[in-house]
Amino acid sequence: MMSAESVINPSEPDIPIEVLAPIKALIRERAGLIFQGATQDKLIKALRDRMVATRKESFTQYHQLLRSNIEEFDQFIVLLTVNETFFYREMAHFDLLTTVIIPLVHESKKDQSRVKIMSVGCSSGEEAYSIAIALCEAFGPQAGRQFQIVAGDIDKVALKKAESGKYGNFSFRGVPPHLIEKYFDPVHPSFRTVKPFIKNMVTFDQFNLLSKDNPACFSDIDVMFYRNVSIYFDEETRKGIMGRLKNLLCPNGFLIMGSTETLANDFGILHLISKKDCFFFSKAEIHKPSFTPEALPAETALNREMVPSRAIPQNINKESATPPVAPEIAPLKSTINLVSVEKLDALIHEERWKEADRVLNTLQNLSEKEKQLYLALIALYRRAFEEAKLYVEKVLAEDEWSVNAQIILGLVAKYQEDFNAAVTYFKKALYLCAELWAVHYYLADCLRQLQHPKQSLRAYAQALELINKTGGKVELPNNERMLPFNISVEQVRFLCDLHMTALKD
Ligand SMILES: C[S@@+](CC[C@H](N)C(=O)[O-])C[C@H]1O[C@@H](n2cnc3c(N)ncnc32)[C@H](O)[C@@H]1O
Repeated sequence: MMSAESVINPSEPDIPIEVLAPIKALIRERAGLIFQGATQDKLIKALRDRMVATRKESFTQYHQLLRSNIEEFDQFIVLLTVNETFFYREMAHFDLLTTVIIPLVHESKKDQSRVKIMSVGCSSGEEAYSIAIALCEAFGPQAGRQFQIVAGDIDKVALKKAESGKYGNFSFRGVPPHLIEKYFDPVHPSFRTVKPFIKNMVTFDQFNLLSKDNPACFSDIDVMFYRNVSIYFDEETRKGIMGRLKNLLCPNGFLIMGSTETLANDFGILHLISKKDCFFFSKAEIHKPSFTPEALPAETALNREMVPSRAIPQNINKESATPPVAPEIAPLKSTINLVSVEKLDALIHEERWKEADRVLNTLQNLSEKEKQLYLALIALYRRAFEEAKLYVEKVLAEDEWSVNAQIILGLVAKYQEDFNAAVTYFKKALYLCAELWAVHYYLADCLRQLQHPKQSLRAYAQALELINKTGGKVELPNNERMLPFNISVEQVRFLCDLHMTALKD
């Protein structure tokens, strides 16, 4: 058997696992990357190539070189990274950036400094330039004066390509043709270059997610794009990276990850937010102004359904000394008469329990049964499970067919991890109203926990089908009003996709 000290013939077909282990450990420690199964072949090929190039004949010699020589490490890494990227990848994120996140950043920014956006794991630059283009599209060609984009990657060869700004046709597969015309110059039938004013908005430098000593420009970040990178790291590494990235963000900074990665990186280090069919992270807990019936809060960009995408350019395009301000929004009219069931629902959604209790007591037009249901829901979300059950019992004494009551009992059981009981309650609710897509989703979750993958898959599929069929609207029988259960169509869609993919694998 070959030992770590062994001489390796680089053209030999196999390199034993024990010889690879120290190399793997070094790469994981310094760059976070892990190699298992098929990806291990890539590591072996890189090892063979670099041993030939550096004329090292034994593994020990090459390992020593790799440990001690930073240039060699950089060259080796270039052979290991996956640089797959293209312009406007996950287009929804660029809309999210300009219509939701930038207004939020402006609301919290206290000085006139430029908004700093970072693309980390930027590869050959398509993501960073897409950000620049999206900003120009939303805020006009002067956006370069208000925004600064810094982009970093561990891979120096990818960075060189990014700096050149020259791309082949394949990089444009996600870009609408009018944007290609507007922001790129053709240099050859198969190549285009980024126009200079877009190029000038972005600076590239080497950045290692595992390192504490990165260039100073990668700090005080308002918005960070960290997409399609974390998939190459194990959980421990991902957690460490989230902590380091948090330190690079401004106190009110935001982080966007690829849609399939976000939940796997929700370690409680940053706050997870869902908006406009997208999940993203916020460093600060989003401010929820305290509620008094006399002074209902003005809307913020987050609780507004959507900020008009051209809400800011007036401020941005003018080269004025005044800092850009958040779009003006009319405050809600603030009298107690406006406090409606919808407001109560919104307070519950925002987890403002005390205010919700107070409003519940002021509402004249709710029946006793409805009040008990609301009290049960508030107790459920406060995790006061026994209290929730007591309220539900009162409801069931009056109306044994209450769908909301069954759902609340199901959720109590689910939160208490009594999945068998939860399944029974959810099935009862579905017996009373088969179109409850959220309940199909809860049912699927419980079935998955109970290790019934086929039934679980069917229930997730059913949830998705019902959302498509009904657009998310459900009418309960007997004129029962649906309680504001805090799960949205977007969340259910996303989570169903996620779990279905995992269950099928
Ligand atoms: C698949 S690309 C993602 C490109 C782009 N973010 C996107 O979503 O299209 C992954 C990039 O992460 C980079 N990367 C891997 N490990 C890294 C590390 N430790 N620090 C910084 N970048 C890293 C790779 O070099 C590669 O360019």
